Amino acid sequence: MPLLTVKTEGGIAVVTLDNPPVNALSHGVRQGLWDMVERLDADPEVRAVVLTCAGRTFIAGADVREFGKPPEPPHLPDLVARIEAAEKPWVAAIHGSALGGGFEIALGCRFRVALEGASVGLPEVNLGIIPGASGTVRTPRLAGVEAAVQLVASGKPVTAAKGLEMGLLDAVLSGDLTAEATVFACTALKTPLPAAVSARPVAPMSDAFWAEARKVAAKPGHQAPLRALDCLRAASERPFEEAMAQERATFLELRGSEEAAALRHVFFAERAAPRPAALAGVEPRPVAKAGVIGGGTMGAGIAAACRAAGLPVVLIERDGEAVARGLANIDRVFAGAVKRGKLTEAGRAEKMAGVTGTTDYAQLADCDLVIEAVFEEIGVKRAVFAQLAAHCRPDAVLATNTSYLDPRAIAEELPHPERFIGLHFFSPAHIMKLLEIVPTSDTAPEVLATAFALAKRLGKMPVRAGICEGFIGNRILRRYRAEAEALVASGVAIAEIDAAMRGFGLKMGPFEAQDLGGLDIAFLQREGARAAGQEVPETLGDILVRASRKGQKTGGGWYDYVEGDRKPRVSPQVAELLAGRIAAAREMAREEIAEQLVGAMAAEGQAILDEGIADGPAEIDLVEIHGYGFPRWKGGPMHHAARAAALRAA
Ligand code: 3HC
Ligand code: NAI
Repeated sequence: MPLLTVKTEGGIAVVTLDNPPVNALSHGVRQGLWDMVERLDADPEVRAVVLTCAGRTFIAGADVREFGKPPEPPHLPDLVARIEAAEKPWVAAIHGSALGGGFEIALGCRFRVALEGASVGLPEVNLGIIPGASGTVRTPRLAGVEAAVQLVASGKPVTAAKGLEMGLLDAVLSGDLTAEATVFACTALKTPLPAAVSARPVAPMSDAFWAEARKVAAKPGHQAPLRALDCLRAASERPFEEAMAQERATFLELRGSEEAAALRHVFFAERAAPRPAALAGVEPRPVAKAGVIGGGTMGAGIAAACRAAGLPVVLIERDGEAVARGLANIDRVFAGAVKRGKLTEAGRAEKMAGVTGTTDYAQLADCDLVIEAVFEEIGVKRAVFAQLAAHCRPDAVLATNTSYLDPRAIAEELPHPERFIGLHFFSPAHIMKLLEIVPTSDTAPEVLATAFALAKRLGKMPVRAGICEGFIGNRILRRYRAEAEALVASGVAIAEIDAAMRGFGLKMGPFEAQDLGGLDIAFLQREGARAAGQEVPETLGDILVRASRKGQKTGGGWYDYVEGDRKPRVSPQVAELLAGRIAAAREMAREEIAEQLVGAMAAEGQAILDEGIADGPAEIDLVEIHGYGFPRWKGGPMHHAARAAALRAA
């Protein structure tokens, strides 16, 4: 199949680009489009050109796979300029998404029309770069600086309807896009053409505007959004050519940055993870109805996630009162969505109408999948699975959401153990993207495939985890916290460690995060292990819990809190309680603190890999990014440590 085909009728040439899967602007596509402009300009029959794409989408951007290689002409900015300078006006006819370089090609066209439901955007900052083919220069000239800042600095695409409102598009069409775009082109030819985008004026903005934009865009250690703002400001204050030169130089510099390498790594990891090679050709079992056992923190979130994906849900609780509480917990999730404008009241009612709350296990008889999320106690869980064995179909997938128990012990007496699997959601389960999928040696491949298919349906990022205490994420979390405590013991200030991790890009440091979640959960677990005869050394956190410092909920943990304020304050009592365990105060550079803690995470990750608990380092990175707030632009602990080692060696 040629990359580009053209068909001319009534003076309108329809050019169709076909470069699966997403019509990325590979070298061949750039050259093909360049040649097409020349050819159609020379064709006396052609009066205007409609550019469409075959397949699922318009051009999704530059070809990310070419980013590691030296750029080859024709360069994208030149191609955009060539399209803009064409004698025959081009009309970009967008379906799916016009992203990055795809939207920049559209900026070079004289008109941009999109099918209802399409989206346009400049997501380059998500790849650690900035638009490199006039996105920062032409967008403000097309739609004003505010619209350009919104699009470029956030990296978030907008819908066609919003794009029309913002001035990014000339029309939103419905029906047959090519036919409608052809009609649009014929009509457009009847009136004088608008100026090329590059020739349009742009109004500069105030210092206060730029200061606010920087405040909104800033993320520690993530330079692309701020560099994009620099280019947008230059574009609004300097001549076109100068702004283009600044954009190009910034683009090329960032393309080779550590941040861009990290974000590319995450980009490809996220696309590979949902389709593990081991499951190629394995059909998942169909899931049309789900059961959830336990309507507490996790069960309610899981039920809400299932409902949001359209699955009817049966919720089982211990007694009538607990059923009512569980239903109220689920409803609270949807009420929150209504409050944020994400759901209507009617939608909320519809979601809740799809939940059956009951104490009667017989109601699970037609469920294809049941997820258990009851108390983290082996006896309680085993009793639940005995009920499931008695009432569920033998081919229904039965899953546990346990955090730390051995799934094999939970399913020990379960008939048809091939249908059993661990599905470890993260709190809040309707929001957090990570889903650790924990098969046992008995789990059937199609049951594993069903878990991956469910993740896709719920919009989750699935990662297979082997069986060990804490699976992948919580095991690394434990090591990370232990390392942070070791730093405290060595004399580094608690607040310095938290500040270092925030500076690295996490939302919270290890100690403030524990204060938010509560220190008692991990404490109780350690106490449980001690009671079972395991040797678990007394941690600094244990000392605090024994002094009733369980975190924010008790007015203090690693820090003190005043009522109604979540701001952590350094605690003299903590200093006193830990005095005997802490060496003399010492200074440590924040960067060094962060490197040591991330290094510890990576070391645990390596142990996890060596034991076959994770399939690869990229999967571990995804766990940390989607379950624990590790900054995407650092690529995850495994990527970060590998890069740091490579840089040290170089
Ligand atoms: N380059 C190369 N391959 C790409 C790509 C790109 N820009 N975008 C997607 N792909 C590949 C994916 O890796 C995947 O390949 P695989 O099947 O071999 O794993 C395949 O296309 C399908 O991707 P998705 O699974 O993401 O497909 P969806 O249908 O779910 O989503 C999409 C489609 C919305 C277009 C999504 O792929 C996407 O957001 N892509 C990235 C868009 C982007 O970031 N563009 C900017 C690039 S940078 C740029 O343009 C610089 C310029 O300013 C100079
Ligand atoms: P929770 O205490 O909030 O909820 C547990 C619910 O189970 C309660 O509503 C209780 O009434 C119900 N329940 C108890 N016994 C039952 C029975 N026999 N039959 C039916 N319902 C019963 O607990 P949470 O936090 O939701 O945890 C549930 C499970 O999820 C645990 O295994 C936990 O380890 C795991 N988990 C918890 C996470 C968290 O952050 N809270 C994260 C990931 C997993």
